[in-house]
Amino acid sequence: MKHFLTMLDAQGELEALLREASELKSCHKAGTLGAPFPRKQLGLVFEKPSLRTRVSFEVGIRLLGGDAVFLGPQDIQLGKRESIEDTAQVLSRYCDLLMYRCFRHTDLEELARHGRAPVINGLSEREHPCQILADWQTIQERKGSLRGLTFAYVGDGNNMARSYLVGAAMAGMHVRLACPEEYHPGEDYVQLARKAAHGTKVEVLDDPRQAVEGADVVATDTWVSMGDEAEKEQRLQDFRGYTVDRALMARAKPDAMFLHCMPIYYGLEVTKDVAHGKQSAIFDEAENRLWAQMAVMARLLRA
Ligand code: CP
Ligand code: NVA
Repeated sequence: MKHFLTMLDAQGELEALLREASELKSCHKAGTLGAPFPRKQLGLVFEKPSLRTRVSFEVGIRLLGGDAVFLGPQDIQLGKRESIEDTAQVLSRYCDLLMYRCFRHTDLEELARHGRAPVINGLSEREHPCQILADWQTIQERKGSLRGLTFAYVGDGNNMARSYLVGAAMAGMHVRLACPEEYHPGEDYVQLARKAAHGTKVEVLDDPRQAVEGADVVATDTWVSMGDEAEKEQRLQDFRGYTVDRALMARAKPDAMFLHCMPIYYGLEVTKDVAHGKQSAIFDEAENRLWAQMAVMARLLRA
């Protein structure tokens, strides 16, 4: 793995990454982590707001022995004040690793193409692969293994949905998405997921009840992603009937778990009783961003 821009970059390395994430978590809790990557510098470039991604990357690189420099939307203005090509080359002289949260996935690819430093996708409009690794770690902790489970996602066919689709297929899970037809994740991603699957099912439906029936894991995400704000009113209408509530959860297996990457808009994509209920693992999921990303950084720093 040279960069981590999409779930597919982790192909063939998913199990090793999850193993390392879990080892890092137990070593830290046992006080035996040490500082395996002293003085390594991580550049964090954000075009959009963040709580989890920013804090988990900053804390993560420090736990590994390195440090981080945060560059917010007003700082370098990538592609506006200077070209992405020049910025990539300059940042690579200071930083050993870069993380970029962007509006355009093609900008992320350009940053990776022109710099020497490995680049991690901290969320683009196309994918959110770091979140999926944390989610898989969370499922593994609760269910023991991912293989053969049924993963259901209800809502917008957005960055999370696309990474889930491919990531679930790679992890050996059956995956069912329920999205209104005009918010489908895109045929290209359905095909990528089918190619990555080894005998497991990849289904995109429009009925949330059908998607959740007998599922082991139920996930959702906001109906209005960063960048979609102008469509908010229309989206709130279009997603009516896609709320994950107790009645919908009751269709999944009795021991099904609930995931949401957060931030949550209660009463829209999920009700608070589900998100904060016994089946929910949202805070473990948020914590696991730290360990999963430390595993990604360790892997890229060793490469
Ligand atoms: N889940 C997630 O990426 O959260 P932030 O937007 O707060 O980083
Ligand atoms: N789909 C959401 C995820 C937020 C972590 C967004 O892109 O805003």
